[in-house]
Amino acid sequence: MFSEAPIGLFDSGVGGLSVWREVVKLLPCEHTVYYADSAYCPYGQKSSGEIIERSDRIMDFLTGQHQCKLIVVACNTATAAAIDHLRAAYPLPFVGMEPAVKPAALHSVTGVVGVLATQGTFKGRLYHETLERFAGHVQIIEQPGDGLVELVESGHTGGEEAQTLLEKYIRPMLQANIDHLVLGCTHYPFLIPAIRKITGNRVTILDSAPAVAQRVKFLLSQDRLLNVSGDKARHEFFSSGDINSITDWICQFTPHIP
Ligand code: DGL
Repeated sequence: MFSEAPIGLFDSGVGGLSVWREVVKLLPCEHTVYYADSAYCPYGQKSSGEIIERSDRIMDFLTGQHQCKLIVVACNTATAAAIDHLRAAYPLPFVGMEPAVKPAALHSVTGVVGVLATQGTFKGRLYHETLERFAGHVQIIEQPGDGLVELVESGHTGGEEAQTLLEKYIRPMLQANIDHLVLGCTHYPFLIPAIRKITGNRVTILDSAPAVAQRVKFLLSQDRLLNVSGDKARHEFFSSGDINSITDWICQFTPHIP
């Protein structure tokens, strides 16, 4: 395993780019390969078996063709369905997504926390273990974000349709007095400006991407796999569907990427 090898990231589509941008910000010397499984998006209501099958195909690409040194499963739903399988099947480090329920529960003053995620994520073992271990003392309001992934994929994050759906999902949480809103899907950070129009500054919005980037850095340095070559970082993007949706989003980040 070479320290100059890229970090691999994958998601059902563009959502994982919200994780990719944090990884690249924190680790500007690392090469990355991003795979969007856009032809099979959304994953949210797919069975675990289907997601495991897709993850194996993507792993063939990321490890077989690109020899990635570490994989970020930049999708909460795929993490919930496939990370145990991936860790058992492939001999390299994985970092998965976990909704930030623990910090939300620890810091909640009202004792009510909202979680917006896909149906698949709510079914995950890790999510339930986290609830049991850290959130027993708070009320958790779970809201599946049906339809939101499709809106982000099509780039319609600021439109009326997104606003109406978010209003429907978030207003009842506000009425229940949440003070933290956990974004349990990597597509949702792209909706934060629209979410803020509803919540104002009344709630803390939690996205796990920065913590995931920190975890990637920790594992790479622990395994002496940080890229210290001094070469300019290379970022490659692939999709099983339309690559244009990826490039559209990347263009928006480019000014922030060194
Ligand atoms: N970005 C994926 C996640 O974090 C989206 C799931 C989907 O494709 O429905 O869960």
